[in-house]
Amino acid sequence: MTDNLPPLLQVTDLVRHYPVPRQRLWGARQAVAALCGVSLQVTAGRSLGIVGESGSGKSTLARLVMALDTPTSGTVEVLGRNLHALPAAELRRARRDFQMVFQDPYGSLDPRQNVLTIVTEPLQAQRKTTRTEQQTRAAEVLDQVGLRRSDLDKYPHEFSGGQRQRIALARALITRPRLIVADEPVSALDVSVQAQVLNLLQDLQRDCGITYLLISHDLAVVNHLCDDVAVLYQGRIVEQGAPGQLFTNAQHPYTQALVAAVPHL
Ligand SMILES: Nc1ncnc2c1ncn2[C@@H]1O[C@H](COP(=O)(O)OP(=O)(O)OP(=O)(O)O)[C@@H](O)[C@H]1O
Ligand SMILES: [Mg+2]
Repeated sequence: MTDNLPPLLQVTDLVRHYPVPRQRLWGARQAVAALCGVSLQVTAGRSLGIVGESGSGKSTLARLVMALDTPTSGTVEVLGRNLHALPAAELRRARRDFQMVFQDPYGSLDPRQNVLTIVTEPLQAQRKTTRTEQQTRAAEVLDQVGLRRSDLDKYPHEFSGGQRQRIALARALITRPRLIVADEPVSALDVSVQAQVLNLLQDLQRDCGITYLLISHDLAVVNHLCDDVAVLYQGRIVEQGAPGQLFTNAQHPYTQALVAAVPHL
């Protein structure tokens, strides 16, 4: 990557306030600050982990990076394009470069749709592809995540949690994205299955050149996949560095507490 190429992801001074319902009719209008000026950069090929306690703003950051929510102020640029300033049609096209995997493998897949419909959904928003092209590509991504072609006709309830997360990953991969935002991708899974899914994420990183923005409250998970970690605390990044460095030399009290909570590291 040469210096004059834009970073894969550039987040600048991102702020998101959510209004809180008024306590009294004439009371002051209140807001919670979920993010208070977050800036970060992700270079292609260098995955970034975001750790932080519950309510620190991790999912808010993920939604803004995915342009599923609008910032109060600040910008999100993917490959140099300011997502929140793009016209709708261009944003739709840009979405092929960044996809998301959610925490809940049960809630994130529509139970009424079969696997083929689920995994080809991101293609509907892209340039017209024929039914045959979609089926071929769906079979490819299913193969990449370790599922079978025959699974395309099945429905989510026929799969285990780990398999559902593989389906969610297949859906994310189908547009050949550069960036995958994964919000707690393994925390709803059984410990034995967690390792399988993490290894799969790692293989995809190596084989397809995927870069992750990986959100987790578990430092061990981030350590597995990420080259850098940012610690989010009350809507701000309070510390950032390589996982090894952060684990041995945490400066912020919250990071120290996180490290202390993972004795096997
Ligand atoms: N749609 C919303 N409306 C109002 N407040 C919100 C909304 N979404 C998030 N918040 C608030 O913003 C703050 C950050 O929430 P967020 O979901 O980003 O935290 P998180 O770090 O992902 O937490 P967790 O680890 O529990 O998933 C919280 O105080 C939350 O209550
Ligand atoms: Mg969250």
